[in-house]
Amino acid sequence: MQILTTKQALQQAVENCKKANRTIGLVPTMGALHEGHASLVRRAVKENDVCFVSVFVNPTQFNNKEDLAKYPRNIERDAELLKSIGAQYVFAPTPEEMYSEEEMNTTFSFDFNGLDAVMEGKMRPGHFNGVVQVVSRLFYLVQPDRAYFGEKDFQQLAIIHHMVERSSMAGTFGKLQIVDCPIVRENSGLALSSRNERLSEEEKKTALGISKTLFASLEWAKETGATVQAVQQRVIDTINSIDGLEVEYYEIVDQSSLLPTDTFNHAIGCVTVYCGPVRLIDNIKY
Ligand code: PAF
Repeated sequence: MQILTTKQALQQAVENCKKANRTIGLVPTMGALHEGHASLVRRAVKENDVCFVSVFVNPTQFNNKEDLAKYPRNIERDAELLKSIGAQYVFAPTPEEMYSEEEMNTTFSFDFNGLDAVMEGKMRPGHFNGVVQVVSRLFYLVQPDRAYFGEKDFQQLAIIHHMVERSSMAGTFGKLQIVDCPIVRENSGLALSSRNERLSEEEKKTALGISKTLFASLEWAKETGATVQAVQQRVIDTINSIDGLEVEYYEIVDQSSLLPTDTFNHAIGCVTVYCGPVRLIDNIKY
């Protein structure tokens, strides 16, 4: 496995693969890898001739400087894991290698068709601009056949699909296929997240209340035939009643438009909860 730190070295490696007619799978990450990332990388290794993984804590998608500073980083451990799974290339640039000073300090503009106006986008202004900025750059540099993303960040995935659909009209990313990968959970139900590293053992137990409540809401909705609004409110009230948890939002929306829906057909419930100081997200399809 090779670790590349410059765009030039990356593009050289990509060119070699293309010349040899090898298919490329890309897994973009911000490092602090866990079993959720590992599942994406395993799939990319299996479905492509060559697997590239980017490890880059992208500063332009953090609207909170403290969150950026506290984001866990451990490239040695990440590289060990990626090697053991069989990734061939890791791209781990510095922010200065990725962006000019101007790019770093101006908000990347993109037409989200409203997908960024709700939930994470509403709570973290500019967040998805930074995500689209870095992901489109990675797609441009790596020219992958397939790119793998987890469904835990459901809104991000919807926005990336939108970005690729829009740009493929202009032919930018060729035949790139976005591969949606299911949430990986601990046996307890807790959705895996790099942010879990910041939870104490006690907070981890408390955080279980999030997935438990989501799963229970699915059953409750089926058993009672309750309205979407009632289920939404029940989830909010139940999580808020747990000591140490505070809901930022819980919205049941249509999986494509991300707009509020009054039917469970094609619906997903997306939640953000503070567990102490740590902001956790999760979702459930109804
Ligand atoms: O989901 C993430 O880890 C990041 O948002 C991504 C897609 C790697 C872009 O920085």
